[in-house]
Amino acid sequence: MPEAAAKPSATLLVVEDDPAMLVALRDILEASGYTVHTAANGQAALEVMGRLRPSLILSDIAMPIMDGIELFDAVRRIPDAATIPFIFLTARGTREDIFAAKSLGADDYITKPITSQELLAAVKARLQRTGELLLAQLKAAYKASLRVLANAIESRDHYTRFHVERVNAYAQALARELQWGDDRLETLEFGAILHDIGKISIPEAILRKTGPLSKEEWEEMREHPRVGARMVEGIPYLAPAVPTIRAHHERWDGSGYPEGLREAGIPDSARLLAIVDAFDAMTSDRPYHAAVEAGNAQAEIASQSGRLFDPAMVDAFNRCYQRGDIAKVFQAYQALNGGAN
Ligand SMILES: [Fe+2]
Repeated sequence: MPEAAAKPSATLLVVEDDPAMLVALRDILEASGYTVHTAANGQAALEVMGRLRPSLILSDIAMPIMDGIELFDAVRRIPDAATIPFIFLTARGTREDIFAAKSLGADDYITKPITSQELLAAVKARLQRTGELLLAQLKAAYKASLRVLANAIESRDHYTRFHVERVNAYAQALARELQWGDDRLETLEFGAILHDIGKISIPEAILRKTGPLSKEEWEEMREHPRVGARMVEGIPYLAPAVPTIRAHHERWDGSGYPEGLREAGIPDSARLLAIVDAFDAMTSDRPYHAAVEAGNAQAEIASQSGRLFDPAMVDAFNRCYQRGDIAKVFQAYQALNGGAN
């Protein structure tokens, strides 16, 4: 990355009634790459807020016309500005100032005199914290929407409720047993949620058919991993899940679809998902079979080690099962289903 791109580019609003101090603050922040707007008091700051939304407000407390505490209060009442982080500058440094700032929920305060390092460190830390919080909220909202979408698609399939959540919970347990890192766990989560999203292209008459599928119907069914992968590959945030989606029906011995990949040629996230998806399919009522006991499903998976499934992963799945991790997930969702599986 070129150095210029690494520089901060956030827009800041600095509110300070002492002109020399205001210029000093602006110069330090601009020299670090920030875009700085200035105001001499709270009233003037609100006028600036009428034109733009800064990423952070740095405000003196004691100012004429409208002081920093009143400004803070006013900004918190503007709906799309209420979450803008605030840093107070206080010359007094009195307990009252600090108490007032904290009791209002001010995010931080700096006591004058300030060194430029202190100023820059406080601004940077506050922006970073806000960015992380927003990202976490965005991710949570994104995942919740994806779950709703994926469950809507599953419901066409007559799967039991919470299929997607259960498959993900099993997958996470197995991946932790295999000591996968946090990044891989998150990619796996997206793969688990979206693995069957390509079924949106399959007519319900095929999805809900209880008898055997015709050759044409089966061919259509076998396309869902490719369709799902195509749906997701253009979305940068989800693209890491594409290999899992595309290969979740590949099998260790090459008997799967759509490519007939085998062994380590199958992405490991897809090998993992194949095991937990099969376990969930067996232990749920489906149009073409009634649910089997968890113990029998686990035994069936163990019997397919080295045939349909990766042997090392089956061993790890057995360890999870013996420890009760799998039963814990199974029972939790059974309780949510009101006892009906
Ligand atoms: Fe599938």
